[in-house]
Amino acid sequence: MCGIVGAVRSAAPVTAGLLEGLRVLEYRGYDSAGLATAEGSTLRVAKREGRLANLEAAIAEQPDWGGHAGIGHTRWATHGPPSDLNSHPHLAGGGGVALVHNGILENHEPLRRELEAEGVTFRSQTDSEVLAHLFAKELAAAHGDPVRALRAALGRVEGSYACAALIPGGGGARVVCSRNGPPLVLARGGDGCWLASDLLALLPHAPEVVFLEEGDVALVEAEGFTIHDAGGEVVERAPKAVDWQPGDSSKGQWPHHMLKEIHEQPGVLARGLANRIGPARDDVALEGFTDELLTSVERVQVLACGTALHAGMVAAYAIEQLARVPVDVDFASEFRYREPVVQGGTLSLAISQSGETADTLAATRLAQQLGARVAAICNVQGSSQVREADAVVLTQAGPEIGVASTKAFTAQVLAAILLAVRLGRAKGALSADAAGELLGAARQLPSQAEGMLTTAAREAIAEIARRHAAAKGFLFLGRGVSFPIALEGALKLKEISYVHAEGYAAGEMKHGPIALIDPGMTIVCLNGSSPLSEKMRSNVEQVRARGGVVLSVGSDPETHALASDVVEVPETHPLLAPILQVIPLQLFSYFVADLRGCDIDKPRNLAKSVTVE
Ligand code: F6R
Repeated sequence: MCGIVGAVRSAAPVTAGLLEGLRVLEYRGYDSAGLATAEGSTLRVAKREGRLANLEAAIAEQPDWGGHAGIGHTRWATHGPPSDLNSHPHLAGGGGVALVHNGILENHEPLRRELEAEGVTFRSQTDSEVLAHLFAKELAAAHGDPVRALRAALGRVEGSYACAALIPGGGGARVVCSRNGPPLVLARGGDGCWLASDLLALLPHAPEVVFLEEGDVALVEAEGFTIHDAGGEVVERAPKAVDWQPGDSSKGQWPHHMLKEIHEQPGVLARGLANRIGPARDDVALEGFTDELLTSVERVQVLACGTALHAGMVAAYAIEQLARVPVDVDFASEFRYREPVVQGGTLSLAISQSGETADTLAATRLAQQLGARVAAICNVQGSSQVREADAVVLTQAGPEIGVASTKAFTAQVLAAILLAVRLGRAKGALSADAAGELLGAARQLPSQAEGMLTTAAREAIAEIARRHAAAKGFLFLGRGVSFPIALEGALKLKEISYVHAEGYAAGEMKHGPIALIDPGMTIVCLNGSSPLSEKMRSNVEQVRARGGVVLSVGSDPETHALASDVVEVPETHPLLAPILQVIPLQLFSYFVADLRGCDIDKPRNLAKSVTVE
């Protein structure tokens, strides 16, 4: 998705810092990039389709390039294809201002027609250029007051936005910005102020950041920034300390962020458990999840998208089993449009790595309006999802840069299971012994995961991937709590290697997908020591009878004996098995994608954080 950076400094040039910020945002997915800088009243713009190197070349073509204030953008095309002209920033007001925008303006067409009738000439096909012209028009009407002008321009648009406009001027250039939907974060650092749509881009500048609230408009100058709330009042927004380090988002010695992040999982699991298991080791301490909140819960509504939804499906098994509370799991994008019924006593549980996924946020807000209390499992401190929840489990996985989610997923599953234990204990549904047994097994997870990520283990999976990379398709089968892992294994494989893969509940196979099976298909069968393993074995027999090639991932020796390839997964508590089972599937997808020459960290068409519908 699109990314925004901006800076106003008193003396030093901004270009290198803005380009560095755009580089940090690359992981979010983009197809073009641009930069505008101002020096006094001179405004310069460079923008190019393609990677940042193209933008750098365009800047190099302008020998007098410079400036102490600027805004930059990475674009992920929505309105109009990727092209130099459709890239941001967009100029308006006779080249007097430049604007960048993330999000979608739903009423851009009538506004464009209205502006054209007034004599405005559009240079791009984007919805964003409409906002640039509206802002320039309002700036003239407001006698150069950027806050009034941006508020007036935004008053005309419908949709979601984070935007920033650069206004050059003899007395010093300024940036004005606002958000309604996609995030925007500000920081004071060095000799100026910085802004970005992702706090990762601000890490090199300041240890503390300020998150704009919905409807805020901020005027950013070299000396500081002033925030006006949605009602127009000047407000102070408390700075938040950031516990991520600038180096956390680099891939170090690893060839890809995804491989690095897969290998970070033992540490992520250890952090997810640290200080959360109570002294008696039979309950969990989760800040904000009070007995008052939990005993009122009569139903849980999980809302999430993609990989996070698969974590939510595991949560459903764990919560129903441990807390005996019914759970519904919905695609956030479906929930928000299906006139849902939310009963009294519902806890809406949003699961999101980024905390900025538009569908998950909208679904959660709807659940809240309908009377639910809101909990979140989220990786990004200070994100919208975190700020809007009554109680939050932070997954503490650190920045996840690879577009394919790995460590955030295992952290989400662990957090969900800990929450299920806490709920079970608070509601008296889970005995101390049963909780103690599960938490005892959970404490083994970091070392078990470590054992699955040795060089030898990794090489073995790379070898299996070599044998299967040319398969014409993949079917992932799981039962019970391993069913969401089958879905996740298939999602991981298709998103980074572009091969067709489907995840199925193994019992459903004979109701349709069995027709796909032939010797060209690889069937990945997840198994464990659960009571369902015998049923899984019959499914494997059915696959073999039709010539399917079986890859067995799990801990059931009898299923392994039926397979042509085997990945051994250590034994654990049945509810924790998904956390270990997914690790070889992540590695398998990684190696298949690598063999197929795919861009692993930035798969085609995908964005890391989906902040539009
Ligand atoms: C897949 C993946 C996506 C995200 C989904 C939700 O690897 O990363 O499916 O899980 O877009 O994103 P978050 O968790 O940020 O809400």
